[in-house]
Amino acid sequence: MVGAGYVGLTTGVCMAELGHQVAILDIDEAKVASLLEGKVPFYEAGMEEALNRHLSSQRLTISIDVATTIADAHFVFLCVPSPADEDGSVDLRALRAAATSIAPFLAEGAIVINKSTVPVGSTHEVHGLIGRDDVAVASNPEFLREGTALADFMGPDRIVIGADTAEVRLQVAGLYDGIDAELMLTDPATSELIKYVCNAYLATRLSFVNEVAELCEVVGGDAPEVMRAMGLDRRIGPHFLNPGPGWGGSCFPKDLTALNAIAQRAGYDFGVLREVVESNERQFERIAGRARGILDRLGSTRVAVWGLAFKSGTDDTRSSPALEIVERLLAANVEVVGYDPKASFSADGFTQVDDMVGAATGADLLVVLTEWPEFSDADPDDVAAAMNTPYVFDTRRVIDLSSWAAAGFVCEAIGRTPPSNQD
Ligand code: UGA
Repeated sequence: MVGAGYVGLTTGVCMAELGHQVAILDIDEAKVASLLEGKVPFYEAGMEEALNRHLSSQRLTISIDVATTIADAHFVFLCVPSPADEDGSVDLRALRAAATSIAPFLAEGAIVINKSTVPVGSTHEVHGLIGRDDVAVASNPEFLREGTALADFMGPDRIVIGADTAEVRLQVAGLYDGIDAELMLTDPATSELIKYVCNAYLATRLSFVNEVAELCEVVGGDAPEVMRAMGLDRRIGPHFLNPGPGWGGSCFPKDLTALNAIAQRAGYDFGVLREVVESNERQFERIAGRARGILDRLGSTRVAVWGLAFKSGTDDTRSSPALEIVERLLAANVEVVGYDPKASFSADGFTQVDDMVGAATGADLLVVLTEWPEFSDADPDDVAAAMNTPYVFDTRRVIDLSSWAAAGFVCEAIGRTPPSNQD
């Protein structure tokens, strides 16, 4: 594995789990030292245990020594960051640097595999940079969700492998023996596109869901009920239908921007996708505006927020919708006190505390921004007793609004008519 980030570590420990001998390479000496002590620099359920298990069994090694790590390997996965460039296109510097640096050390007949999310043409570009006819390059995108990455790797919906020859496709597929999943063997461009298109479709679905939630707020109807019925249609399916304060994370925003840029550069205007991204930006504005509106009506500038991570199950705050909202509130001079079970944040005007009720203490409005299960389990009586005004705005639909109302709360929630507009 070239790269000991999220994808490299997950792929590494899971390949070890499948019985392979794995060597992880990274250029960051401090990170390697800490990983060798069994410490994972981010929160991912089960990751630290799996890493320690495979370090002890010696099925997994981690090093900064490119020559020995690469020379011993038949398969080399490139798991390096592919962030968005300033113009929205993909910054391929890390991928190119990795390809160039491993080239002289690759064993004869080695197969290099792009795991990073990279644009159509990257498999061939990496082959060109390596510049060796005896080495093959394949594409094998990851479909891991943060929070469930290990389970997603071991029980995927499908495994996609793109390469120019059937021989290379089958060799890479052999690495996944032991995993029961549909294998899709295809050409590199199709494989590269599959990854972007899946993320783009999921985000499209969410922008649609969030707009339906807004529609419910103005015409009536309850969005979660509408979504539940929609999900029962087998052609639609029940997943990814939960309205929220917008979608975010380390993948969707950058991948959608990249796909728009890829299309545009090829002279194609992917209109639906442009609108999906713009709809999401409007969602952040809308939710922050609604919270500000409640505070204005209450004559208050003191809000509590539950949830800072971009979703539950992770400490990742990259492109977090929760922080998009918090930052807009701070910019409006609102004093924000926040709580998250794993994630942290700091800014002028923001205070982080380490318990839910503590965050709510003295606040006039509580905004629920991430769907951590403990928020659903919170006792509304305790929260009401701590708050200055018992007013809650649930942007994830995770709390039981009727029991919170029974505890004295004024309840607002995404996807249903606000109380101020109700008869
Ligand atoms: C996403 C994809 O789901 C993975 O398949 C993909 O491998 C990964 O990106 C990647 O490209 O590496 P992830 O970024 O971990 O995974 O996050 P998701 O679980 O997809 O959630 C993305 C955003 O959508 C979050 O802000 C989440 O809260 C939001 N969301 C998700 C909703 O608002 N409602 C839902 O019903 C589901």
